[in-house]
Amino acid sequence: MESDSGKSVSPWLASVEMPQTKPLEKNIETDVGIVGAGISGLTTAYLLAREGKKVVVIDDGAIGDGETGRTTAHIVNALDDRYYVLERMHGQKGARLAAESHTEAINKVEEIVRAEKIDCEFERVDGYLFEPPGGDPKNIEREYHATRRAGIFVELVDKAPAPFETGRALKFPEQAQFHPLKYLRALALQIEKRGGAIFTKTRAENIEGGEPGKISTNGGKTISAKAIVVATNTPVNDRVIIHSKQTPYRTYVVAFAIPENSVPTILLWDNDMPYHYVRTQVVRNGSREETLLIVGGEDHKTGQHDEGSAPFGRLEHWTRERYPIAGEVRYRWSGQVMEPVDKLGYIGRNPMDEKNVYVITGDSGNGMTHGTIGGILITDLIMGRQNPWETLYDPKRKTHSIKSLKEYVRENADVAAQYADFLMRGEVASVDEIKPGFGAVLRRGTHLIAAARDEKGKVHERSAICPHLGCVVRWNHVEKTWDCPCHGSRYDLTGKVLNGPSLGDLAEVK
Ligand SMILES: Cc1cc2nc3c(=O)[nH]c(=O)nc-3n(C[C@H](O)[C@H](O)[C@H](O)COP(=O)(O)OP(=O)(O)OC[C@H]3O[C@@H](n4cnc5c(N)ncnc54)[C@H](O)[C@@H]3O)c2cc1C
Ligand code: FES
Repeated sequence: MESDSGKSVSPWLASVEMPQTKPLEKNIETDVGIVGAGISGLTTAYLLAREGKKVVVIDDGAIGDGETGRTTAHIVNALDDRYYVLERMHGQKGARLAAESHTEAINKVEEIVRAEKIDCEFERVDGYLFEPPGGDPKNIEREYHATRRAGIFVELVDKAPAPFETGRALKFPEQAQFHPLKYLRALALQIEKRGGAIFTKTRAENIEGGEPGKISTNGGKTISAKAIVVATNTPVNDRVIIHSKQTPYRTYVVAFAIPENSVPTILLWDNDMPYHYVRTQVVRNGSREETLLIVGGEDHKTGQHDEGSAPFGRLEHWTRERYPIAGEVRYRWSGQVMEPVDKLGYIGRNPMDEKNVYVITGDSGNGMTHGTIGGILITDLIMGRQNPWETLYDPKRKTHSIKSLKEYVRENADVAAQYADFLMRGEVASVDEIKPGFGAVLRRGTHLIAAARDEKGKVHERSAICPHLGCVVRWNHVEKTWDCPCHGSRYDLTGKVLNGPSLGDLAEVK
């Protein structure tokens, strides 16, 4: 399904109405100011409100319309990155703590769902990881041993319960899934019930720690807070440090209508490059109720391969070969995940900042649990309690292992290569070559222009230089946005900023 603007929409966004909220209209004082109303921000706000803290959350869009509205919501301790890789990067103790924290996060979601009687279709399910044909079967065996060393009970089975031959698979019991926006909606209502406030269409334009910390917003109003949490998926208050340690990737999802109970309710992942992730969900949209087979994958670095809707085509092909039962495509959407160089989130005090400014970022495709870990860990830090995961997720941690150092250099070299784009001639010679609903970078003298033609034929021109650190943005045809390949800032067709780290719009063309 696509929105009026042509952007992709997930079944979650299409099937839930969020509580009515307004922009911030006056200066406000609070215990904790939180930027970002996705799972990270709202879990943190909810847990702090439960501890009696006064919380104020702002979001520049609506509740849940960031990446949380685009997730596939596998809630897992079977992480996207293998435990044998985590062991190499963080040692055996680190891998154990990672396993423990993600397991605790699943339990925390379940505890909240039960405590608040949230109707969000939360259910425990088994997850299965398998090696695709042509892969190295030893990978599954290696992961089996590493996962057990990390303290997770897994089983080796001859085959996953899927309608196609998976070969040997690793079974992860006690994983979970839910409707992420029904969960978020309930968190928002509980935050307000406990005296907290949520303001939408309110962008943080400047964030300063200190006593008190201050969040200045686009409407000219200020939030003064004893502590500030920046939960904007990628931090908008950090200019360089964290952004040089993580890379934005785009990932794609297709949801097919299937007959009720025709596919087992499991989570399924392969070990392919790029990999695939599968689940089912019954979605109620108005009076219509249907079962969806939700298949994701085809990840690539943001802004580096605009193939239009080709990734959807590949996902559809992959699915139809394996699930002949898959019916009509009901939804197609894409989103962005942040891949930290050493595979774990950055959660804690913001590096080189006042000590009352905290960040949650680096979801690594496991944002349901990373966001929940963020809520637990930051709540402990603000409440002055020790938390055993603090060092593991510390945003200022160094990239210790040779492997992660190599990756750090490679990712940053790749980002640096993007600067060479300044020299390019532009993708088109003139705006006449741009069709309605498309955009392209063109060179005019020394300037690179991001030019997009809207569906009515009007051309919008902005500088193609990302105001964050000066990379050249790229057109994303699926979302009709300008995406920055360096650190993931995104802008709408007219150049208005949608996602940080950039805080400003693409500059006007003089
Ligand atoms: C297609 C896809 C599939 C995924 N599948 C899974 C999965 O199966 N399991 C899993 O665990 N994870 C998955 N993820 C990852 C997961 O969805 C994200 O990691 C998670 O939703 C991030 O939550 P968040 O709260 O940190 O960020 P978001 O949900 O993006 O929320 C951040 C909010 O901050 C707001 N914001 C940004 N800048 C500002 C500003 N300056 N001022 C005010 N507000 C601002 C944004 O509007 C946004 O609402 C998937 C992601 C995608 C895209
Ligand atoms: S997001 Fe950093 S340069 Fe664009």
